[in-house]
Order: sequence, then C-alpha cells, then structure tokens
Amino acid sequence: MDAATRIEAPLSLPASWYSDPALWQRERQAIYGTSWNLIARADQLETPGSYVAHVVAGWPVFVLRGRDGALRAFHNVCRHRASPIVEDGQGRCEVLRCRYHGWVYDQDGTLRRTPGFGADIDLAEFGLIPIRVESWRSLVFVCLDRKAPPLALWLGSLTERAAGYPLERMKFHRMMVIDLGVNWKTYGDNYAEGYHVPTVHPALNRAIRMDTYEVECAVAEGVQVHRAAAAGGGTSGLWLWKFPGLFFNIYDWGMSVVRLEPLDHLRSQLVYWYLFTDDSPETRARRDEMMTWSLTIVEEDKQICREVQRNLDAGIYDTGRLSPVLETGVIQFQDWVRGRLASAGD
Ligand code: FES
Ligand SMILES: [Fe+2]
Repeated sequence: MDAATRIEAPLSLPASWYSDPALWQRERQAIYGTSWNLIARADQLETPGSYVAHVVAGWPVFVLRGRDGALRAFHNVCRHRASPIVEDGQGRCEVLRCRYHGWVYDQDGTLRRTPGFGADIDLAEFGLIPIRVESWRSLVFVCLDRKAPPLALWLGSLTERAAGYPLERMKFHRMMVIDLGVNWKTYGDNYAEGYHVPTVHPALNRAIRMDTYEVECAVAEGVQVHRAAAAGGGTSGLWLWKFPGLFFNIYDWGMSVVRLEPLDHLRSQLVYWYLFTDDSPETRARRDEMMTWSLTIVEEDKQICREVQRNLDAGIYDTGRLSPVLETGVIQFQDWVRGRLASAGD
C-alpha cells in the first residue's frame, strides 16, 4: 500500500481503563447515569401495585404501577436510614412499607407515617426520591438524569429500525442472567465487531453469511446496526445496539432483548429476555433449541472476554491497533466512551 492510500489503524483504549475503579465511578455518572436504562417489560407492571426493583449501574431503583394506573419510579432507598423499600425483583405491594423500621410511604412517594419514631419530623421533607420513567412500546425505562432527552428521542433511529418487529405481540419466553466477570467495556468491544465470529463462534458462523456482515454507526444517536444474511439452512442476523448497554438481537426464529449491566469496575452481567411470536406448546421444544443455540454464542463470548480481561489486567499489554475495516464498531464504541467522559468534564 503506498503512502497516499495508507489507512490509519486507530489505537484502542489503554488497558488500565478496563480495571480502574475511579474511572468506573466516572463512567457510572457520565454514561449510565445520563442514559435511559431498560428496567421492565410492560407485562410485569400491568396490575396496580406491581413493581420491578433492580440495581441500575449501582443505583437501586424501582418502578411501580399505582392504583391510579400511573407508572412511577423511585430510588429504592428509605429516607430514614437508607434501607431498601422493596426487595429486588418483581412483586406486588399495597403499601410501601420500609423493611427496616416500617416507615410507610404513599405510592406517589410521600412519607405518610413513621410508626413509633417518638419525635416530630416534617413528613414532606422525607419523601422517596423520584426518578424519571417512560415506556416505549412494551418496554419500560428509567433515567437518573433530569436533563436527559425524552426516551423516544434518546432511542434515536432504533425506534424506526425496530419498527418492523412486533415487540408488543411477542411473548416472553425466559430470562437468563449471565455473569460476565469482566469490565463492561470488554464485552462492549466484543459486541462491536463480527471479526471474531469465524474464530470464536463456529455455529453462528455456519448460520450467517459472513461475507455479507456489515456494520453501520449512527454516531450522533449512539446507535450501531450490525447485520448479516442467512446462510443456507441458517438465519439472518440483525443486531441493534443503543449505547451504552441495550441490545436487540433479532434472528429469523425470534429475538432477545439484552441489557449489559456494569456491576463495578471488574464485573458486569448480561440480562437476556428471549421473546417469540409463537408461544404454542407444540413449538416449545424448538424455542428451547434456539435459546440453547443463542446461549452457546453468549458462552463463547463470555469465555474469550474473561481471558482478554485477565490479560488486560496482567500488565503486559497497554494498547493495540483497531482495524478500520472490520472494527469500525469498536472504534465508534470507544469514541463514545471517551466522548462521554470528556463532555462530563473529564
Ligand atoms: S430505614 Fe426505613 S424505616 Fe428505618
Ligand atoms: Fe461474539
């Protein structure tokens, strides 16, 4: 290649960024703290009093369907001495009674009673701390940033790109939580390229035509689209990603809606919801088979990511070069990380 046509290969993020607890605290505020975070499906919050509680990038929060039909979300933190109000997971409650000393809150978060407390406090001063909640189609999101754009705007072109998929009609099949045991960006880098498919994923490599694999980045929106055509007897693949951690993996047989959730600087998890249009008993075995096929791919990614994380932490590697042809998604992902940290006053 002569000098005129020489293409630069950008540098990857330094290895230290994948294990630095202080950097994680900054990412938590600047990236996950300013994004909308998927927390529930609409079917989990249909009846009044139903709630979903979850820890979003280190913030325990919950969403509740009120008796008035409205969805409300709060930090899951009692204003007395910080106990959780509801248990993590999905449930129902008539009253919001703190599990520690029994303070009672209304469904709108107002502190109502402080049984046995023995002193006068201003109830109005100690309501639950509200956070934003919005729905898009059958999915419910929360956001900790009061200045973030509304959910539909934040999702950007993901909404049009997913328009053809009957999310509302799709039936929830199963949830899987996969403990990755790596920094969230180690998995992000991995998701951002198909370069490793032939070497890491033999079954996926047989199912799709890698010669058609393409990546499109809608930079300003934080959206990446990966797609590949079906190989004979296989499935096409469409992977939609909204930065930082929302993925729609769409195959001919159904889809998974996935969250990449950082737990701390060295741990993250994937929460998979498998959705199918057909939930008849006759096709159950087929759905299980497809889910197993998908989980094999996840397991292969987890394995390679753990080994990469070990080596990033070993102190021998600092940074590498990214392919401007096959790793455009990685380059973009890492730019988004840098950009968010910079715009948060890095
Ligand atoms: S911490 Fe909630 S009542 Fe004490
Ligand atoms: Fe992979």
